[in-house]
Amino acid sequence: MGTRGIIVRGMQPALGRCSRYLPLRVLELGAGDGTLMLCIAQELSRSWPAVHLTLLDRLALLDADTSTAFAHLGWSVQTLSVDVLDWAAAPMPPHLPPRWDVIVTNLFLHHFDDLLLPELMCAIAARCNWFVACEPRRAPISLIGSYLIGAVGASRVTRNDAVLSVHAGFRDAELSMAWPGDQDDWQLQEHAAGLFGHFFRAARQGVSAAGIA
Ligand SMILES: C[S@@+](CC[C@H](N)C(=O)[O-])C[C@H]1O[C@@H](n2cnc3c(N)ncnc32)[C@H](O)[C@@H]1O
Repeated sequence: MGTRGIIVRGMQPALGRCSRYLPLRVLELGAGDGTLMLCIAQELSRSWPAVHLTLLDRLALLDADTSTAFAHLGWSVQTLSVDVLDWAAAPMPPHLPPRWDVIVTNLFLHHFDDLLLPELMCAIAARCNWFVACEPRRAPISLIGSYLIGAVGASRVTRNDAVLSVHAGFRDAELSMAWPGDQDDWQLQEHAAGLFGHFFRAARQGVSAAGIA
């Protein structure tokens, strides 16, 4: 899907406004085994060497090799093994700053239905200055692609998942509509990304990712 490039380009404007030497707090929701974020970190770490990264997933999937690879880049990594809806409902721990600089997610928001998605978006908006998401695009071309991934060796389960993901995906301004509150406080961007992806970014107005007005 060209995801790495889509997310790197989505995060770069946030980084451009930050000090290279100020450690940033980044949270990935539904991070899986962390390998996608590692690819992103390999690209960004040259210009963004100091990051405190938290990988949230309800499953503990990060292995020692991936963790070591983050450390070699200078990115500290910790995991949060919780259901994101529990994370969304819980208050922020008082010993942490109230907001992450950047929250990022890939192939995750489409797991939530029309009732849960606004609730989740509300918690995300309250807890970050920048939010970057890449999701499946609900479009005929994506559906055709999802049926064709068998041709590149995908298993029946993966093919089935791909088709379901496209049906649960997003188009037009659907994620912007689910974003909460006074949209004047946020600069929103939402558009098709690549052949099969759907990109959404929310940037808090007047605040850089590092929280500097
Ligand atoms: C399609 S995978 C994407 C993984 C990773 N973002 C990537 O692109 O490689 C979705 C991930 O979300 C996690 N997940 C699904 N529902 C969740 C929930 N309610 N709370 C936390 N994690 C969840 C799954 O365990 C899985 O690792």
